[in-house]
Amino acid sequence: MLKINNLSKTFNKQTDHEIKVFEGFNLEIEKNKCTAIIGSNGCGKSTLLNMIAGSIMSDNGHIMLEDKNIGKLKEERRSVHIGRVYQNPSMGVSPSLTILENMSLADKKSESFTLRRLVKKNRIPEYIKLLKELDLGLENQLNTQVRFLSGGQRQSLSLVMATMKHPDLLLLDEHTAALDPKTSFVVMEKTREIIEKNNMTTLMISHNMKDAIDYSDRIIMLDKGKVILDRESNSITEEELMEIYRLKISRDIAS
Ligand SMILES: Nc1ncnc2c1ncn2[C@@H]1O[C@H](COP(=O)(O)OP(=O)(O)OP(=O)(O)O)[C@@H](O)[C@H]1O
Ligand SMILES: [Mg+2]
Repeated sequence: MLKINNLSKTFNKQTDHEIKVFEGFNLEIEKNKCTAIIGSNGCGKSTLLNMIAGSIMSDNGHIMLEDKNIGKLKEERRSVHIGRVYQNPSMGVSPSLTILENMSLADKKSESFTLRRLVKKNRIPEYIKLLKELDLGLENQLNTQVRFLSGGQRQSLSLVMATMKHPDLLLLDEHTAALDPKTSFVVMEKTREIIEKNNMTTLMISHNMKDAIDYSDRIIMLDKGKVILDRESNSITEEELMEIYRLKISRDIAS
């Protein structure tokens, strides 16, 4: 379970460009469930994921993951417990390294970068097994540099790498947004398979209302750093979500 208490974050404090994104923010995420986070541009979705992952430190508050207080740990320490796939297909992988080297890096998360690159031969059958499950033929291209892969192939590889050590939490930040509709569908289906197979606790940001409903158990809508909607995904429709957005926009214009 992920439990966030009293989290606050202000960027550019005490300057003309001060941006208060969160103040006293609370959220509980159930174990083994996929929770979708939606909301307009700039409402704080990525900042929230960044604070959970430790790439941005919160100003105060607690982040408990499986009874461990991770809120003060460095990002590298947290990454042992947290898997992450980014919007940009180049972010979750090292493009100049081969598929094999990338898998090895992900496999040895807690070791130093130099040691991690050295591939342990006895682990290769496991990498091949995981890649085969993607059904993209990547297991036949182990020595290909990742920069030569398509966006969809990279995101799929990134997903396998993020989940291979069975993290307590998987963070997906618009991980199919840069893909064409067909590839996005393929990657979302693979995401579902991997999440279900590993019973993974997942937080998924998406601007695609249909995906948010279809692939999650719960939907949370953020607005200006606050939860303005929290529903079981099977209790709400795409049309209702769009209507909430429309009402919000007209309210924002009026104010
Ligand atoms: N490192 C940073 N430094 C300064 N301001 C930041 C930083 N990161 C985010 N912000 C600001 O915080 C606010 C929330 O940004 P965030 O990226 O979390 O939004 P988002 O909900 O992910 O939006 P989008 O849907 O466009 O990805 C924005 O006003 C953004 O400009
Ligand atoms: Mg974002």
